[in-house]
Formats: sequence, C-alpha cells, structure tokens
Amino acid sequence: MNSPLLMNTRNLSRDFGGVRALRDLDLDVRQGLIQAVIGPNGAGKTTLFNVISGVIVPTGGSVFFRGEEITGLPTHKIAQKGLTRTFQNLQLFADMTVLENVMVGMHCMSKGGFFASAFKAPWVIAEERRVRDESMEWLRFVGMEDHSATVAGSLPFGSQRILEMARGLASNPELLMLDEPAAGLNSRETGDLARLIIRIKESGVSVLLVEHDMELVMSISDHVTVIDQGHKIAEGDPETVRSDEKVLKAYLGEE
Ligand SMILES: Nc1ncnc2c1ncn2[C@@H]1O[C@H](COP(=O)(O)OP(=O)(O)OP(=O)(O)O)[C@@H](O)[C@H]1O
Ligand SMILES: [Mg+2]
Repeated sequence: MNSPLLMNTRNLSRDFGGVRALRDLDLDVRQGLIQAVIGPNGAGKTTLFNVISGVIVPTGGSVFFRGEEITGLPTHKIAQKGLTRTFQNLQLFADMTVLENVMVGMHCMSKGGFFASAFKAPWVIAEERRVRDESMEWLRFVGMEDHSATVAGSLPFGSQRILEMARGLASNPELLMLDEPAAGLNSRETGDLARLIIRIKESGVSVLLVEHDMELVMSISDHVTVIDQGHKIAEGDPETVRSDEKVLKAYLGEE
C-alpha cells in the first residue's frame, strides 16, 4: 500500500439533528486501487460520499484531494478536480437517450451551453461532434454501444446502473466513487460489473466502492474500510477485514 495518497478525510463528522452519521472519520484513498467502504445499514456510507462529493457540508473535519483541501466546495468544482460519484438511487435522465446521458456527463468539461443553442457556430458543431465521439467511446468501454439510441428510462435496471457509471467516467475522473453499484443486479450482471470495475482500475482510474455484496467487495478490493455508526472500526486487505471480530459483531448485531 505504498501508492500515493489521492483523497483523504480528517476528523470528518456530520450530524443530522441528534444522529451522528459520521464521527471523526479518517479515510485514506490511495491512487490506482479499488478501495471499499463497507458497514451495516445506516453506518454512514452514503453520508460519507455526500460530504466528500460536496452534496452536503460536514459538521466538522476536512476533505483533501491530492493534498488540497476541498471541504465544502460545490459539487461541480469537486467534479472538475477529478472526483466523480454515482448515486445509490439512480440519477439518470430517463427521457434522454443513452448517448445523451453520457454526453451530459462530459458537459461539465466542455464549453458551456451548446445543448440549448439554436444558432450553431462552427465551433459548436465541432465541439458537439467531439463530445458525441468521446461519449460513444465510453459506451464501448462499458459494453453499451449497441444501445446508444435507446431511451435511458426503458433500459433494464442493471443497464441503467452501468450507464450511470459510463456517465461518471465521461467526466474523466481520477477517482470514481460508486454507491452500491451491485444493488438490484442479478449474479450474471454482478459478475460483469466486477470485471468492469477492474477494467476501470486498469485504465488508471481509482475506485472508491460502497457495496453490500460482500462477495463482490472481497473479490475485487485492494483495501477495505469498515464503518459502523459513523466510526471506522476496521481496515486492511479483504482477508484481514473478513476475520476481524469487530466487523463480524457489527454485521451480526444488525439482525
Ligand atoms: N438527510 C438526512 N437527514 C436525517 N438523517 C439522515 C440523513 N441522511 C442520513 N441520515 C441518517 O444518517 C445515518 C447514516 O445514513 P447513511 O445513509 O449515510 O447510511 P448508509 O451507510 O449509506 O446506509 P445504507 O447501507 O442503508 O445505504 C442514518 O442514521 C440515517 O438515518
Ligand atoms: Mg447508503
């Protein structure tokens, strides 16, 4: 685990009224790895993603990306720095085509406003073509190129999840944060997802994975952090974490 630090949190806390969703959490995410954050329902995993990606502000503590403090920046600023996340509940544009959804993902990186423009200057047309071509490349990467013209809302659920990942990748992140990408997938789809996440890592994008499917987590992660009630209770390689007594207790205590 000697690869450079990409993103880290220090003493990160977030309260919701009396609920302490995150408590003084220190998380180190290293470059080039698949890192997982696991924990029982309500442990604070989505809250952690929301705070890191700027969807909500923390009550205390800091978030750093490549050593630069990004705490409290708006989501688009954080995305521009190279940090992109997907959502536990899908956030696709259901009425738009698959390709258009990916183009939206790229949009924050291109000159603004061309979707709405009635008058198309030559640079707008060229830019549109570039965005379209690159978006098609991402659809190819995730294996959805044959569905580019399909309306996103009509896709099977599993394909919508993959599309959301393609859209995230289109913003060219250095760190892709996936919140329960396997939720609702069948075992064949989960196998495809595992291979896709590994290819994402091999392409040079680091992955932070929140996931309840332990088989998936343990088979693809380089490093696992376990949180319970907003606290970090264990971390290490999958083998170490799997046999940690505190982890077993946190999960068994759930029932
Ligand atoms: N917007 C909110 N308002 C009030 N409480 C919230 C809010 N968001 C999260 N919480 C509370 O914070 C705690 C952590 O929730 P969070 O969604 O982060 O858990 P999680 O680990 O993602 O759970 P799951 O595995 O079920 O997705 C829970 O007690 C939850 O009820
Ligand atoms: Mg969650």
